[in-house]
Amino acid sequence: MDTVNSPRLPLNELPAWKALTSHFQSIGQKHLREFFAEDATRGQRFTVEAAGLFLDYSKNRITDETLRLLVSLAEESGLRSHIEAMFTGEKINITEKRAVLHVALRAPKSEHIVVDGEDVIPGVHAVLDKMASFAERVRSGAWKGHTGKRIRNVVNIGIGGSDLGPVMAYEALKHYSQRDLTFRFVSNVDGTDFAEAVADLSPDETLFLVASKTFTTQETMANAHSARAWLLAGLGDEMAVAKHFVAISTNAKLVAGFGIDTANMFGFWDWVGGRYSMDSAIGLSTMIAIGPENFRDLLAGFHAMDVHFRTAPFEKNLPVLLGLLTLWYTDFFNAQTVAVLPYEQYLKRFPSYLQQLTMESNGKHVTLDGKPVASETSPVYWGEPGTNGQHSFYQLIHQGTRLIPCDFIGFAKSLNPLGRHHDMLMANVFAQAEALAFGKTAEQVRAEGTPEWLVPHRVFEGNRPSNILLADTLTPQVLGALVALYEHSVFTQGAIWSINPFDQWGVELGKALATKILGELENESEPAMTHDSSTASLIRRYRASK
Ligand code: F6P
Repeated sequence: MDTVNSPRLPLNELPAWKALTSHFQSIGQKHLREFFAEDATRGQRFTVEAAGLFLDYSKNRITDETLRLLVSLAEESGLRSHIEAMFTGEKINITEKRAVLHVALRAPKSEHIVVDGEDVIPGVHAVLDKMASFAERVRSGAWKGHTGKRIRNVVNIGIGGSDLGPVMAYEALKHYSQRDLTFRFVSNVDGTDFAEAVADLSPDETLFLVASKTFTTQETMANAHSARAWLLAGLGDEMAVAKHFVAISTNAKLVAGFGIDTANMFGFWDWVGGRYSMDSAIGLSTMIAIGPENFRDLLAGFHAMDVHFRTAPFEKNLPVLLGLLTLWYTDFFNAQTVAVLPYEQYLKRFPSYLQQLTMESNGKHVTLDGKPVASETSPVYWGEPGTNGQHSFYQLIHQGTRLIPCDFIGFAKSLNPLGRHHDMLMANVFAQAEALAFGKTAEQVRAEGTPEWLVPHRVFEGNRPSNILLADTLTPQVLGALVALYEHSVFTQGAIWSINPFDQWGVELGKALATKILGELENESEPAMTHDSSTASLIRRYRASK
């Protein structure tokens, strides 16, 4: 029997779940003011540090007992054996019959991980070496375009995991990027995305990276074909494709069919999920931007967090604690969202990246054995870089009716020190978390001389939980550790919910219907349609006005 499939009690029948349910009755309403008043050391005790990341989780509505019970829940759910099953290449993605080995992408050469009788590590390093030599040639100008000019623009065409990781990493690590190269990312099938991305580029200086695990994704293929047409319109010679297109895919046959020389293909494997692929060949744009050495540092950061996740006791395990805290609010407080608030401009795309990682992974309604889940699963993740959000949606987080746990992310040092800016930025991180936790009572508001009619409006209830993640500086290594932290937090939650975080059947129905409807939109004559009356009349209306 596979590890993840071995029989287990339903979640709500596990002893730790039952204990947490009654524990919640006793502390669920208790205020963070009380928690802190009772224990002067709380702010130091509820912290953990690993792989260059420091987490202060003291401003959560928890006690030592909560943590003990949550850790028991992880144990009773078999999290430990799930982790081992992943790291040793067991086929834990049971609905697609695949291993889940993004951890192999950042494992050192000395490791051995065997899947279907083959050690995957040498292959991983062979691709990394091939990427490095290609990236160096583009960066140095040795790789020439069809007309002999050097490449100045790199355009990554991909969607989902083949876009969000690359664009997030490029933005996050822009400080380390080679500035005489321009990077663009095209994902949407909306033609505007492609048109605007190339509007100011010359074809003879532009390299397209077509990133698609399957090489069948409709949006990516449409954009890749438009890119090909744009290039040929500019350069007028089929031979140009070889110098201006490379592919990143697991599907050599379709890559060749598109006309890309498979010598210019960077491969990966079915055991890398799209949303877990930014450190595979899908990260080629990142490597071209920051260079192979920085890319290796990024991988080292991922690996450091992997080792910590696999070996640290759960009560000191950063991803496990982050996952357990999220589950605590989702399942016991009925919190529906998590706000991710990086106080670092370079992390502006990090919340979007996390949306796919968390929600495509754990947005599931049945357990591994196909039964309805016994609790809520993934919360909605969202966020904006600080301080922008403070002047928009923080009002709701502070005084609205919903409980929104927040993850603040900040750095001790700025990559762009500028007068008092960084102290101002970080003062806001600490202030927001303090305000959320402790609020302001009616007595405090009155003591400020506020007229009685205005007092209720100016009260902050507080008791709104947050995590604060701190690192020294945003380096490639720290970014790797940060991404791996969330990957493993997602894994922790998925294991406890007994769902499969590694499939994504929920994207299929819409894709199939869109293919059918596309035919109906493009049909010369009025198509016979079998849709509901709303969809059918929308299609007719569009056909009449397009
Ligand atoms: O439709 C969802 C999805 O399969 C994602 O999981 C994936 O990251 C994305 O599409 C892109 O897939 P591909 O890399 O195969 O083009």
